[in-house]
Amino acid sequence: MKSMEVVIEGNCYISGRLERCCIGIDGGKITAIAKDLDGEKVHSFDGKLVLPAAVDAHVHFRDPGFTQKEDFSTGSLSALCGGVTCVFDMPNTRPATINLASLRDKKKIASSKSLVDFGLFAGVKPGTNVASLSKEAIGFKLYLGSTTGELLVPDIASIKKEISDIGASGKILAVHAEDEGMRNKDVEKNLDDHLRNRSNSLETSAIKKIIRNAGKDCKLHICHVSTRDSLSLVTGVPNLTSEVAPHHFLLDRSGNLGAFGKVNPPLRKREDRQAMFQALKDGAFDVIASDHAPHTIEEKEEDFDYAPSGVPGVETMVPLVMQHVRDKHLELSGAIRRLCERPAEIFGVPKGRIAVGYDADLMIFDMAKISIIKADALHSKCGWTPYEGMNAVFPKAVFLRGRLMVEDGSQVGERMGRDVLAGQV
Ligand code: NCD
Ligand code: ZN
Ligand code: ZN
Ligand code: ZN
Repeated sequence: MKSMEVVIEGNCYISGRLERCCIGIDGGKITAIAKDLDGEKVHSFDGKLVLPAAVDAHVHFRDPGFTQKEDFSTGSLSALCGGVTCVFDMPNTRPATINLASLRDKKKIASSKSLVDFGLFAGVKPGTNVASLSKEAIGFKLYLGSTTGELLVPDIASIKKEISDIGASGKILAVHAEDEGMRNKDVEKNLDDHLRNRSNSLETSAIKKIIRNAGKDCKLHICHVSTRDSLSLVTGVPNLTSEVAPHHFLLDRSGNLGAFGKVNPPLRKREDRQAMFQALKDGAFDVIASDHAPHTIEEKEEDFDYAPSGVPGVETMVPLVMQHVRDKHLELSGAIRRLCERPAEIFGVPKGRIAVGYDADLMIFDMAKISIIKADALHSKCGWTPYEGMNAVFPKAVFLRGRLMVEDGSQVGERMGRDVLAGQV
């Protein structure tokens, strides 16, 4: 029998089941799956879980323009250490990623710094040249509510043409769904005030509006769904996928986080948080994505009203979910579907599954090893986490296209992140 370049053996997640077997890898792709395989290099993980690595469809790596908060090196190292081997970066950088020049500039930056594979979102504004961007962007992003950055489009009517162009391109339109027209602008002193200014109805209103205006014209992806009332709106709609962020099913406004818990959409009441968690158990949401939105400690320590919105989370997303899997509060299959399979499938990248023909992106878990999350041990430049002190299961090892990149929490492989669209047509 022909020897493979790399063989990884362990308790592998294949077609929805765990089974002891070998994964054969050539040229970074999975080329064989069998009980026994010979390899030039063999990694044995007896008794450990071998899972597809995660695809995080929503991160803000802040590069270029805000590299005091994060850059593509630190953000991607943080991703990798948390089991994420592919990220889709949002366009609210400086300059904003809204034309071919800024998209290509960011692509150069990411290609030279990223430890994980990546796709880049292009922002939608009136006049956005969709045709030129669609070949090189992983998708388009629309901000219906104001948040970090300068990409607000409060009026959907102003981008009718752009939406139908996106539909024609076949790309996804990812939406920050908060209705700017309904936002209160009172001075905020705490998380209750932030929630009052951005009540649940902003989200449900924006979701209804975008479905009404764009539903038939293009594929929609509703980012960071956070209210109970949104659930029925994003379920069973053709051409629509939905995403939930860990902070909306694990944290709520009662957490004493102050401005460190300031995020858009806001941390809501306990009932909403519980409803998000229950919905996950019940099968709702296509995707879990981190909305990793780092800001510096200094910025977060400003007066609440001035502090920027956003929380980091790319490194803690998978480990927190795996802790809930360990505790039998979430099923492994549901976790893998939303962290790996669906984001890859929706955005059309050959990742997220252990199957022949897919990229050999894998994360290995020793489910007996629980860690306590500490900001000091994480790799984001921002230096803090809203999950400080919580239990989590971090991956023991992470592979990108067959290469061991992380082992026991440290980088061991050399940088080889690339644009997921390179080579695809
Ligand atoms: C994000 C950021 O800081 O870039 N902030 C946030 O509160 N989620 C932007 C966004 O996703 O809305
Ligand atoms: Zn957003
Ligand atoms: Zn975001
Ligand atoms: Zn749990």
